[in-house]
Amino acid sequence: MSRLHAAGSLRLGVNIDHVATIRNARGGLHPDPLRAARAARDAGADGITAHLREDRRHISDLDISRLATEIDLPLNLEMAATEEMLAIALRHKPNACCIVPEKREEVTTEGGLDVAAHHRVLAPFIQRLKAAGIRVSLFVDPETVQLAVARALGADIVELHTGAYCEAQGAGRQVELDRLIAAAVEAERLGLECHAGHGLSFETVAPVAAIPQVMELNIGHFLVGEAIFSGLDRAIRRMRQLMNEARGQAGLATA
Ligand code: PXP
Repeated sequence: MSRLHAAGSLRLGVNIDHVATIRNARGGLHPDPLRAARAARDAGADGITAHLREDRRHISDLDISRLATEIDLPLNLEMAATEEMLAIALRHKPNACCIVPEKREEVTTEGGLDVAAHHRVLAPFIQRLKAAGIRVSLFVDPETVQLAVARALGADIVELHTGAYCEAQGAGRQVELDRLIAAAVEAERLGLECHAGHGLSFETVAPVAAIPQVMELNIGHFLVGEAIFSGLDRAIRRMRQLMNEARGQAGLATA
C-alpha cells in the first residue's frame, strides 16, 4: 500500500450533534447545524454524522431532513433500532445508518450495541435498510463475537467504539488500543468495512488513525468544544492533519 493511498483512504466524518445541543439550549436557530456541516465540508470532512435520538435532545427531525437534501456530503445517520427511526431512515435514505444502543438516561452512547444478544431484532431491521440501498453500520465494542454476528446479519460496516481507549490512562490505554487493532484486523478478515469513533481528540486520534484497516473516523464532541477556542474550520483541519500524518507513518511502516 503506497503512502498516498494509505493517507487518502481514511475518511473523517464530522458529528454535528453538539452544535444542535448549543442551539437547543436557547431554543432558537443559532448555531445552525447545517452551517456547521457546510463549514466541515469546506474544512475537509468527508461526511456528516448526526444522531437522531428518541428524545431529540440535540438533532431534530428537521435537521435530518435538511442534512439529507441540502448538504452534498454523505450523511451517516446514527439511530437506535426502533420502528420510528426505521421509518425516518427509509424516508430520507441517508448514505449510511449507524445503529447504536440508546438508553434514555445516558449522557452519551455509553457502550457498543450488543449485536449478539439482539440479533433477532436486528436481522429484519438491517435487511429493510439494505433493501432501500442504505449502507448499514453497527456500533460495537471491539469484541470478536460482535463482529462475527455483525457479519452474519449482513452489516456492511462495523464502527468500533473507541470510548474505553480514550478514557483509559497509562498502560491501560495500550491494552484498549490493542483490542481495537485486533478487532480491525478481524473486521477486515470478515469482509466488514471498519470505522471507529467516540471520544477521539487531538491527543488520542493518531494511534487509531494509524490502524490500516480503519477506513473512517467519526468525531464530534471534541471538535465542537475545540471550535470555541480556535473555530470549527481550524479544529477540523488540525484533526485531518493529525489523521493524515498518523496514516502516512502507518503507510511507511507497512510499505
Ligand atoms: N460514533 C458513534 C456511533 C457515536 O454514537 C458518536 C457519538 O454520538 C460518535 C461516533 C462521536 O463521538 P464524539 O462526539 O465523542 O466524538
